[in-house]
Formats: sequence, C-alpha cells, structure tokens
Amino acid sequence: MSLYKVFFIMGVSGCGKSTIANLLSKELNIPFFDGDDYHPENNIKKMASGQALNDDDRQSWLETLNKLAQKQLIHNSCIIVCSALKEKYREILNRDISNKTNWIYLSGTFNQIKERINDREGHFMSSDLLQSQFDILEEPKDCLKVDINLSPENIVKKIKEELMNKSEFGLFGLGVMGKSLCRNLANNGFKISMFNRHIDAIEVDVAKKFKENYPELSNSLAFDDIAAFVSSLQKPRRIMLMVNAGKTIDYVIEDLLPHLSENDILIDGGNSNYLKTKERFDYLKSKNIHFIGAGVSGGEEGALKGPSIMPSGNENVYKEIKTFLETIAAKDKNNLPCCTYIGTEGSGHFVKMVHNGIEYVEMQLLAEVITIFQSLEYNPDEIANILESWKATTDSYLLEITIDILRKKEENDWLIHKIVDKAGNKGTGNWTTIAAAQLGVPNTMIASALFARYTSFFKEERTEASKNFEASSKSKPNISIEAISEAYQFARIINHYQGFRLIQQASENYNWNINLSELARIWTGGCIIKSDLMTDLVQVFKSQQNILNDETIKNQILKLKASVKNVVSECVLNEIAIPSLSESINFLHNFAKENSSANIIQAQRDYFGAHTYQRKDDPSGKFYHTQWK
Ligand code: 6PG
Repeated sequence: MSLYKVFFIMGVSGCGKSTIANLLSKELNIPFFDGDDYHPENNIKKMASGQALNDDDRQSWLETLNKLAQKQLIHNSCIIVCSALKEKYREILNRDISNKTNWIYLSGTFNQIKERINDREGHFMSSDLLQSQFDILEEPKDCLKVDINLSPENIVKKIKEELMNKSEFGLFGLGVMGKSLCRNLANNGFKISMFNRHIDAIEVDVAKKFKENYPELSNSLAFDDIAAFVSSLQKPRRIMLMVNAGKTIDYVIEDLLPHLSENDILIDGGNSNYLKTKERFDYLKSKNIHFIGAGVSGGEEGALKGPSIMPSGNENVYKEIKTFLETIAAKDKNNLPCCTYIGTEGSGHFVKMVHNGIEYVEMQLLAEVITIFQSLEYNPDEIANILESWKATTDSYLLEITIDILRKKEENDWLIHKIVDKAGNKGTGNWTTIAAAQLGVPNTMIASALFARYTSFFKEERTEASKNFEASSKSKPNISIEAISEAYQFARIINHYQGFRLIQQASENYNWNINLSELARIWTGGCIIKSDLMTDLVQVFKSQQNILNDETIKNQILKLKASVKNVVSECVLNEIAIPSLSESINFLHNFAKENSSANIIQAQRDYFGAHTYQRKDDPSGKFYHTQWK
C-alpha cells in the first residue's frame, strides 16, 4: 500500500489557497491542481453571468475533482485547491480515498480576508459575497487548521512539519490486538505512531523491534517514551488505547493527560465496562479531551484483516476518526464497513459486552452439541464431519473454528481430549448478566452459559460430586442427528432474541437510539459471532425490533420446537448436561404463556410482606392486599 496523499487546501475565497499550494508544490515537488480549472462549461457560464453556483451545480465538479485525486494517487501525491466550504462537499472529494487525504484549512476572520482581497491589485469582492461564503462555511474538524496571519513561508513550514513528519494516528499498547491493528492501519496507508511501555528486562524496545519485523511498518514511528509518542502525532491527536481493560486504562489516561492538548481524541478499543466508559468520557470532557469507547471484535486475525468495530461517544468526534476505523474494519457483503457509530456514552462497549454474552452462549451450545454426539459415541473427526454438513443451514464463524478444533490431533490423539475442562473468562459475560439483571431483562441464555463456565471451574468439587451422583453406567439418548441440529438452531434463535432484546432495553433506558439492523450488519463480518443467522437479522430488524414476531423466524421456531423438546428430554433422562439448550426451550415455555405461575409469587409476597397484587377481574390495575389468615 503506497503512502501517496492528496493534500486538499481549503478555505473561503481570498484566504491565499493558491499561493500556499504553489509554494508547497515546489517544496514537496508534487503537482498542484486548482479546482477552479475543472468546472464544467455550464458552471463557467453561470459564474461569468454573475450567478452563484448551487449545490447541484457543484456536484459534478466535485466528483471530477475526486476522480482527479484518485487518478493522481495511483502514481504520486498531489495538492488540490478547492474552497470546499461544506461538509458534504468534502465528503464527495473524500469519496473512496478518505484514508489518503489530508485537509489543510486556511483560516482567517472576515475582516482579515476582506482587507487582503482589497489589497490585491485588480481584485475586488463585495462584502456580501464574502459574507455569504462565511455563512455557508462549516469548519472542518478533521484537518490541519492554519492561521493565515502567518507568512506563506511559515504556513508551508507548519504544513510540512505537521503533515509530512507527523503521524495521523497513534496506537498505544502493543499486545496481540494492538500489534495487529497497527499492521492493519499501516497496510491501509495510514502513517502511524506506535507506543509500548518500557519495563527493564521485561518489555524492552517492544515498538522498535515490532517495527523492524514488519516491512509494512517502515513508515511508522516507534516509541517507548510517552512525550515523544504524543508529540509525533498531528493535532488533534487521535490515540487508540489497546491496553488491558480495567484500572490500566485509568493509569494510561493519567500518564497521557499532561502531554495532550485540547480536543485530542482518545479511543479505548478494549473490552471496558460501559459504565466506566461513561465515567471516563465525563472525566476527560472536564479536561477538554474527547473520549470514544470502541468495542473491537475479531481476535488477532480480525484485528489484522478487518475487525468489527463498535464506537460510541460524541457523534461529531466520531466523524474525526471515522476514516481510520471504517477503513480498517471488515467489510460486509455489500462492501460496507463493519463499523458504525453506535450511540452516546458507553453504548459501544455495552453492545460489545452483549456481543460477548451472545458469544458465550454460541460457544456453550456447540460444546453441548459435541457432548451429545460424544454420548452417541461419535469420535471428534466424525463430529467434525457432521458439523461440516450443518454449514449449509446454519453456518457461523464459531461453528467453523469448532470443526477445526475437533480435527486437531497431537500425536495419535485429538488435542481436545488433552485440554483441561475448566473454562476461563475475562468478565464480559459476567457484566452482561449483571446488566440484564439491572435492566430487568430475562437474559437467561447468557446467564446459563456464564454459570456453565463457572460450574466447570469447580473441577475438584465436581470430581468429588461425580463419585456420589454420576450414573455408573452410561445410556445412549434416543435422538437423531437431525434433531440435534434443529435443537441447536432453535437455541441460537432464542440466544439472539435475548441478546438483542437486552440491547433494545438499554437503548431505551439510556436514550442511545441504537439501530439494531445496523448493529446486526456490523456483526456480519469481522467479529466472533458472525453467522448466516446474523445476516438474516439485518433484514428482520429493518421491519421490527422483536425477532419473534418475524414470520420466517416464527415458522422456524414452530418447526424446530419438537426437536428441542425431544433432545432436551432425552438428555435429561440420560444425564447429559445441557444447561443452555434446555434453557432455550424452558425460556420459550415460560415466555410464550398467557397465564404464568407468577400469580402464586404475587400471593406469597402479599402474604408475608403485604406487597399487594393486581386482580384479573379488575382491569383498572388497582393494587389489593388480603388478610391471608
Ligand atoms: C472478540 C472476543 C474478544 C475476547 C473475549 C474473550 O469479540 O474478539 O470476544 O473480545 O476473546 O474477551 O472473552 P472471555 O475471556 O471472557 O471468554
């Protein structure tokens, strides 16, 4: 990937764009194009007759300039001068090349510019015309803003210093994910600075050595000194933190703060708790530093080739980093980035947390399915072959990796037979369960998968209990492969229903306005829970929030229900542990009931605590208390 760039120099008429472009072009030895030379015939006529151009007139002209930029980028960097006063003009100019453009905004006050124009021989611009330019000017945020009070030589010097020698994006923390993201950014043509701390004899020259090992990083800058790292970045600085979630983020923020300036942007790309993200957002706001919490999914490979990214915070600030995140993100089937602005506060980390909750269940369901097949005496290769055949109806990333895992052998035995059956976790499934409890949403599937992991961890106590309670002779469940497949599909639907329902609730409670279809879309690529089902949900969420009301899903549930009942009951009878599979059908039975057993609970509450209850024969909803004895 080349590092050629287009330098767009913009600003109102008379700010000195051409002068600066000329000087810069000589200094950098790259061509300079004046946008005004590319107007179509009609625009030229219109301007000659003294009429102002409207947005429609500008459309094709801006597209021509964008094409010109794209063509130049094949062989060289270049400079293009264009007033580009509105955001939407710049969007056209940036189209498909936003990762290769640098914006230089020559900024001055109305009076400064008026004076300049009037000083120029043979030039005159009415105050009204100039004022109209200031009226429509939408100052760019993601740009190098240069004060026109500086001399042209100093302006060029500043542009050179800031844009040529400094990096566009900083990556803090070179663990597995940080390293992959650095390579991804560099592979996409971004000039980056990379930082990793120095710890004597433990972490020494990490960034420098990393740079040396990968040719794509040859233009990147490597640091183990925070001050040097920060000052190597263009302003406003954009720094992505890829450090361990938790207290470390706060320490890193404190270390960075003395070196940052107003409007710099920190992006937390770790699995941080969404409530903490909100706190950090508010704290940094008080210091005039922007904070974006961004969930990043896809593991090491995703980070390198294209992760799914879930950013949140202030939407205008997101626009300033959007190019970087959307360029490095995975692409969906329509080639759109698997990265979209989620909402305010910690909504990005919230949805990433629920993503992980859904992930826990998807993993647990596969583990249970394999357990059932083992009870039917299939070996791992045979199970892998069966799962392979499921790809046609229910493909997913986790299904695919599980097939690989089942086939992996060490010497003559399958590797999975050698792996200790104690599942670890880093906390996101735990937080999802807590969030669901706090928001009052029945996320029973996530809880079941979480507690299955916790149960596995009690290995010694489990072994003890098995001596007392496990059936001595094993019996085989009477179930078909087809029924297992259908039970699995059923449970996955319930899992996705519950996960998205939790997000919907949080979005309502916190006013995040999360677009569930867009969220499903960015989860169709790059992330751990990408699947065919997720792709279907993109469409489903376009017409409703509740997937259980979708006609196709409803019919699927009705079709699959018999199998899940059969599989679950057979497993229970044969002592096969299937906490998540069984929860899926239990949930539906509990949920799809007009009359539940909760009347008994209400009566009990009223009996011992006078908590009152409502009556079916009083539609007013009034609360009653009874003297039960
Ligand atoms: C992802 C993963 C990733 C990580 C989890 C694992 O989306 O890329 O979810 O974030 O692998 O943190 O979580 P546990 O250690 O809790 O299983």
